[in-house]
Amino acid sequence: DFGMMTYDPAFMNTASCRSSITYIDGDKGILEYRGYPIEQLAEKSTYLEVAYLLIHGELPNQKQLDEWTYQITTHTFVHENLKQFCEGFRYDAHPMGMLLATTGALSTFYPDANKIDDPEIRYSHVVRLIAKMPTLAAFAYRHARGMPYVYPDNDLNYPGNFLGMLFKMTELKYQPDPRIERALDILFILHADHEQNCSTSAVRAVGSSQVDPYSAVAAGVAALYGPLHGGANEAVLRMLRRIGTLENVPAFVEGVKNGNERLMGFGHRVYKNYDPRAKIIKKACEDVFEVTGTSPLLDIAVELEKIALEDEYFVSRKLYPNVDFYSGLIYEALGMPVDMFPVLFAIPRTSGWIAQWLEMTQDKEQKIARPRQIYTGGRTLDYVPIGDR
Ligand code: SDX
Repeated sequence: DFGMMTYDPAFMNTASCRSSITYIDGDKGILEYRGYPIEQLAEKSTYLEVAYLLIHGELPNQKQLDEWTYQITTHTFVHENLKQFCEGFRYDAHPMGMLLATTGALSTFYPDANKIDDPEIRYSHVVRLIAKMPTLAAFAYRHARGMPYVYPDNDLNYPGNFLGMLFKMTELKYQPDPRIERALDILFILHADHEQNCSTSAVRAVGSSQVDPYSAVAAGVAALYGPLHGGANEAVLRMLRRIGTLENVPAFVEGVKNGNERLMGFGHRVYKNYDPRAKIIKKACEDVFEVTGTSPLLDIAVELEKIALEDEYFVSRKLYPNVDFYSGLIYEALGMPVDMFPVLFAIPRTSGWIAQWLEMTQDKEQKIARPRQIYTGGRTLDYVPIGDR
């Protein structure tokens, strides 16, 4: 809805659309999905229930939740040809690159992919995308390790089914640890939506051309792949490993302050206070480590945070831990390899992307995305023959 566009002199802080899905107050560190505080949802809800809330605008009753869960569960499988498509990728392909390709390829498997005017067909795309992302993500994981793919086990819940497709190694039924399942479910809740961030803006912009939702969500995967966005949790782990010991922390902080390093997992375009998700993830970290055993990297992360919250360089720039600072530590503890971290962001963010896409397609005043520019080039120049240049 770029008719609404108003921009401030900084130009970059442009209001691009109306939305009633997610509310953020960056100065107060507030995040609400459809008006519900993220702290309550992380403590009391499940990812599938939160996905329903984002899509439908209200919390489901038991009958609605059961129907929603049944719909998602019965759509977790992907077409056999898509599995063969994956088998054609290089083994060293980054899982996010594979997810980008397979998400976009979904549009070629459904003849009604572009029929987005029909509400029922539109809703079927919503269900398919939320249901199939864990399967595509698990295929990418197994492919990169030369392992046979594991098909969904619909007796398991949403996070458990994903863990099974990743880690099942025998014919025996996969039995995930409920504490690991719950930790992953909380991470999925925290990553589900975040207003008009880079990848969601990409989904809205591409979707505003009325392309099919699979291609629009693939644009979100592409944007999330970047190290400044969804790739940040992967970059945090690599940064903590590179620091290596507590003794190296002060030298690294000096490197940040003189511009040679970037403190990945810190800073945010909107939060100029503590990212509320980071607080919840830090607590979840401690809970998971009770199960898996702690990581020496946590001590380094806590020390980095302690220094940064007191140091003028970070305080003056309002740099606080964001959602990515601690999430990588949990993923590592859950046995996830670093290259899967952005993929773990894409799975739950699919419900936010598709909720925003749905809201946009139902907004009758929606126009095709057409951001304006501040032109800084030359004007009305005469053509110069090449011999005179
Ligand atoms: C996500 O938008 C969303 O909602 C995103 C997200 C979501 O849920 O969708 O929340 C997920 O992407 C979280 C952010 C993950 N990225 C990182 O952790 C990468 C590291 N952080 C940054 O690169 C940076 O903080 C951004 C990109 C997140 C935000 O950048 P801004 O707001 O454009 O900040 P800036 O570049 O204008 O920086 C202001 C100052 C600069 O210093 P000066 O030029 O004034 O001297 O702060 C400095 C920057 O150099 N700065 C940092 C820093 N982030 C900003 N210095 C060191 N380390 C950092 N991380």
